[in-house]
Amino acid sequence: MSNVIVMDHPLIQHKVAILRNKETGSKEFREIVEEISMLMCYEATRNLTLEDIEVETPVAKTTAKAIAGKKLGIVPILRAGLGMVDGMLNLVPAAKVGHVGLYRDPDTLNPVEYYCKLPIDAIERDIFVLDPMLATGGSAASAIQFIKDKGVTKIHLMCLIAAPEGVKKVQEEHPDVDIYIAALDERLNEHGYIVPGLGDAGDRLYGTK
Ligand code: URA
Repeated sequence: MSNVIVMDHPLIQHKVAILRNKETGSKEFREIVEEISMLMCYEATRNLTLEDIEVETPVAKTTAKAIAGKKLGIVPILRAGLGMVDGMLNLVPAAKVGHVGLYRDPDTLNPVEYYCKLPIDAIERDIFVLDPMLATGGSAASAIQFIKDKGVTKIHLMCLIAAPEGVKKVQEEHPDVDIYIAALDERLNEHGYIVPGLGDAGDRLYGTK
């Protein structure tokens, strides 16, 4: 079963509360999403492998640490996942960024991929899929499957707010994928919104409501 890691650092909780507030406007909302993503990235990369490297300081030669092992990739799910990209890139500027776009088929209600462009060396990277709201889990589970179908084996999911239903769906379909969240909310309402949630993340990021 995949791990669910709730990143409830006080700064993250404080910033999530600002996002939840319906009076928070798009500019501040975007800034706070970026800040939370950066804090979550810091936590999620805690276990990256290090290796010894030789460096010469202005004073002496020494051994220091550098990130070793697999490089990182970031894959936001369009459109709301875009809001989390810069926060990740602030800390891992060498990460490559792919994009996945999905829509829901009105007849079957199944997610259909309309866009998927991954880094050329994605299969050699640790991939972080970004989606601020893990609601039913349908989009995230499908996006992860599309990425696996391209040969990627190491995938993490990073969301700001999750509903238990979404966590369960991803855990059942992708038990190998760790899920990082800032808050686990109560439930979904009849419209598929997370309660209490923060409303439509894409609309709030881009002022489209
Ligand atoms: N997507 C959102 O943006 N918000 C929700 O509450 C659920 C899905």
